[in-house]
Amino acid sequence: MEIFKDIKGIRDFVKRERQAGRRVGLVPTMGYLHQGHLSLVKIALESADTVVMSIFVNPLQFGIGEDYEEYPRDLTRDAELAASAGVAAIFAPTVAEMYPKGYASYVEVEQLTEGLCGASRPGHFRGVTTVVSKLFNIVQPDVAVFGQKDAQQAAVIQRMVRDLNMPLEIVVAPIVRESDGLAMSSRNVYLNDEQRRAGLVLSKSLGMARERIAAGERDAVKLRQAMVDFIKSEPLADIDYVEVVSRESLKPLEELAGPILIALAVRFGNTRLIDNAVVEV
Ligand code: PAJ
Repeated sequence: MEIFKDIKGIRDFVKRERQAGRRVGLVPTMGYLHQGHLSLVKIALESADTVVMSIFVNPLQFGIGEDYEEYPRDLTRDAELAASAGVAAIFAPTVAEMYPKGYASYVEVEQLTEGLCGASRPGHFRGVTTVVSKLFNIVQPDVAVFGQKDAQQAAVIQRMVRDLNMPLEIVVAPIVRESDGLAMSSRNVYLNDEQRRAGLVLSKSLGMARERIAAGERDAVKLRQAMVDFIKSEPLADIDYVEVVSRESLKPLEELAGPILIALAVRFGNTRLIDNAVVEV
């Protein structure tokens, strides 16, 4: 496996792969890899011959007071995990390589970015869509894989690709969880033992929501309130949002119908965790 820190290096690598007739897949990450990231590589290898992984903690998508500085980083460990998962090349640029002095261009998706994480993290999705556009332009993959763990991010990227006619396919991969249900996240390392245990309210509240829908609940407001009450029964949990939205528009629903997205963000101390479930009603 090769590791490139500069844009020219990864471009030349991809060019050689292309000339050899290989289909190129991209898995964008911020590193500190876990099984969730590696599942994306496996899925990318199903539709591409050569998989490139980017590892870049993108300052543009972190707000003031967020965890950009503390975000865990370990390129040596990541490189071992990526190589064993079948990644052919890592692109791990510096901030100066991605945003040189005088940088002034941004990509923004409207509407879909207004609610959920967009409401509590202003500017976050502008940072995501800008860096992902740059990665697409640098690597020029045939296919890129994103996780359903970040449901709004996946929806926003799909919309950007459609709206801006970007010539690649987007695949969205299922959420990978720990054996007790906690969705895997690089940020889980921030949790102490008590917070780690309390974090289970996320997946449990989604399980409860699924059960209520299966039992006939069709009132989105009632469903949401039941989830809020359940999460509040965990004293360490501090709710950022709990929303029941249309899977298509990401707008809040009153009545449960069609494909719905139940999404939540909850703080445990300074650590903000997200989780979600898609339910076909
Ligand atoms: P990061 O949080 O490192 O996640 C990289 C990719 O892994 C995303 O597509 C995310 O949805 C997916 N992922 C994370 N945890 C997962 C899990 N438990 N199961 C399945 N997939 C999971 O998301 C980002 O980085 C950044 O915003 C990025 C897209 C790289 C742009 O900077």
